[in-house]
Amino acid sequence: DASDIEKGTYPHFMLKEIDEQPLVIRNIIAKYRNEEGEIELSQDIRDAILASDRIYIIAAGTSYHAGLIGKQFIERFAKIPVEVHVASEFSYNMPLLSENPFFIYISQSGETADSRAVLVQTNEMGYKALTITNVPGSTLSREADYTLLLHAGPEIAVASTKAYTAQLAVLAILSADIAYSKGLEIGFDLTQELGIIASAMEALCGDKEEMEQIAREYLATTRNCFFIGRSLDFYVGLEGALKLKEISYIQAEGFAGGELKHGTIALIENGTPVIALATQEYVNLGIRGNVKEVVARGANPCIISMEGLEMEGDRYVLPAVNEALTPLVSVIPLQLISYYAALHRECDVDKPRNLAKSVTVE
Ligand code: G6P
Repeated sequence: DASDIEKGTYPHFMLKEIDEQPLVIRNIIAKYRNEEGEIELSQDIRDAILASDRIYIIAAGTSYHAGLIGKQFIERFAKIPVEVHVASEFSYNMPLLSENPFFIYISQSGETADSRAVLVQTNEMGYKALTITNVPGSTLSREADYTLLLHAGPEIAVASTKAYTAQLAVLAILSADIAYSKGLEIGFDLTQELGIIASAMEALCGDKEEMEQIAREYLATTRNCFFIGRSLDFYVGLEGALKLKEISYIQAEGFAGGELKHGTIALIENGTPVIALATQEYVNLGIRGNVKEVVARGANPCIISMEGLEMEGDRYVLPAVNEALTPLVSVIPLQLISYYAALHRECDVDKPRNLAKSVTVE
């Protein structure tokens, strides 16, 4: 029950939940490891996924953004094609399905009506489904064939933080497990890398003064803000923009670096904040080029890069983690910057206007 959960010494649930992320990741490693210390999911889930030729991820909001990254994990590690769909669109705009589809519903609450409506449909069609949720016994969990829990503890703040990184960790674990059961190598030890990620998260959560400073510097009075990135960084930018919109009411949008020139760059004015993520070596030069393009039009750039890829003028450098898993770490400063931007602007951080924690009507 939400009313039993205490904020403790924290001024807001959101800040508490941001800080809980290293613990949640460690908890997830422990829950999904077998006695030999290896990642292991139930054979039922494996068999169902291995029997399918295409995975359809259905979700809304932040969970949809986790799904976009989950697609990258599954395709890269397990080599199964994945489509990601916004639940509310899927029901009346259903794509042509493959011969043996498998459905993954991602939902923190397990109660989102838009997602449930699709699950009812795919159940009627006789397709197997897995729900990835934080709430055992939730509607989506009960109505799907399989469930993977996030083990993140109750999330109270409307803006989702720890559930997002927990979703990414569980999706990475699922992808690795399917890869192993197909005899594929993923090229690194996932439990070890998740441990490194938990430590990196801790370091970032310990750097709040810097995040507050960035928020004050870039977002105290701005009307809008853009997030740019390429590849995985693009998807994290979408989530960063959503966080900022939800709690600070700043008009924020995330864009793929290369797509800027096809329209959005028209919006850049003198002083427009542009938060650029640079955590992927193979697109580092590309995103740096995009930063130059917006700076030439007057933008105020805030480059968040990763150790090893940093360049002069970067505003913040993230501790190095495995390149395939950077979203688990790069989202933390975006969560914190949004939090402090909302504080500066005196917004109700935990209960933003017009939003509900879970939307149980279609
Ligand atoms: C609501 C919340 C969002 C959340 C979305 C999906 O709109 O305000 O923060 O991402 O629902 O929720 P779910 O529980 O399905 O992940």
